[in-house]
Amino acid sequence: MRTLIFATNNKHKLQEVNEMLKGIATVLSIDDLVRDGHPELADEIPETAETLDGNALQKAQWVYQRTGMDCFADDTGLEVEALGGRPGVYSARYAGPHCSFDDNVNKMLAEMDGQSNRKACFRTVVCLIENQPDGTPSSPRYFEGRMDGSILTERHGTDGFGYDPIFLPDGYQESFAEMTLDTKNSISHRGRAVRQLVEYLSEHQ
Ligand code: IMP
Repeated sequence: MRTLIFATNNKHKLQEVNEMLKGIATVLSIDDLVRDGHPELADEIPETAETLDGNALQKAQWVYQRTGMDCFADDTGLEVEALGGRPGVYSARYAGPHCSFDDNVNKMLAEMDGQSNRKACFRTVVCLIENQPDGTPSSPRYFEGRMDGSILTERHGTDGFGYDPIFLPDGYQESFAEMTLDTKNSISHRGRAVRQLVEYLSEHQ
């Protein structure tokens, strides 16, 4: 089975993606590589582009340049209609630099207080770079997933991460933070993008 590096240190994302790539690839995280003697990967991965594609590419390239191994990265944004699509690509830093998931959720609840249009969507872009037989990187390949839903008026559930407790996916009665991992993966933005990655990897062993 092939090995792929997932350019993340987010344990929740890793768990979601690991589950979906079972039997297809062995997934190593940045932490796994640092522990395996790659201290050059301990720096924070840059994420300074202005689009999801740009950030996913930046993260995948950062890892490829340091390892020369097949790798992929994802970038996700929460786009809220009443906020003109914000926070979008800035979802991680919505409440300011170095803010926590909780800070972001609190800010979203405050900004959406009294707002009747609560429509939102999550979008994920996954970028894959493969090491070619001649040791050069492949062109980046992109896989995209989207899930529509709405922003709840308070937190529901304690599982998941990020904005999960306040995101109600369309057609469901439970927030992402109330669902099992399998249910979230079966409908989520990341699940949809990663399923396309799985399809590609299955066809190109
Ligand atoms: P990034 O892809 O790690 O840059 O994610 C941007 C922001 O969106 C972070 O604050 C994440 O916590 C949040 N986020 C990413 N994926 C999810 C998800 O599946 N559920 C809830 N929040 C998410």
